[in-house]
Amino acid sequence: MTATLTVCETCNFAPDTKRGPEGLTGGEILCGLVEKAVAGSAAVASRRHACLMGCDHHCNVGLSAPGKITYVMGSFAPEAEAAEALVEFAALYDASETGQVPYRQWPQGVKGHFVSRVPPLPADES
Ligand code: FES
Repeated sequence: MTATLTVCETCNFAPDTKRGPEGLTGGEILCGLVEKAVAGSAAVASRRHACLMGCDHHCNVGLSAPGKITYVMGSFAPEAEAAEALVEFAALYDASETGQVPYRQWPQGVKGHFVSRVPPLPADES
């Protein structure tokens, strides 16, 4: 099973600034950095998505996998350190049966960025 990071590609570069110096949104920059960080990983994939409806907490990222808890994180800087922390956390998430990762294992770069979590739907028993 692969953990998927869903990265908002339309988030602001900074709280009141849509685009950075290169003309890209903060989300576009973070998407590119996450895609680079997951390259070659069998445990983690990424995808881009427009607005995850957490615009006040740019840059926003969801983490999900079938049968596992879903996390929404935000307030990331569009920088390589954030992308690498997200991918490191996603790999730990992938290795966990439920998606829950013990706090002591969390990369420093994700601490303080969690917005919400959603439990998985029950397995279909039909
Ligand atoms: S623009 Fe990224 S959450 Fe709305």
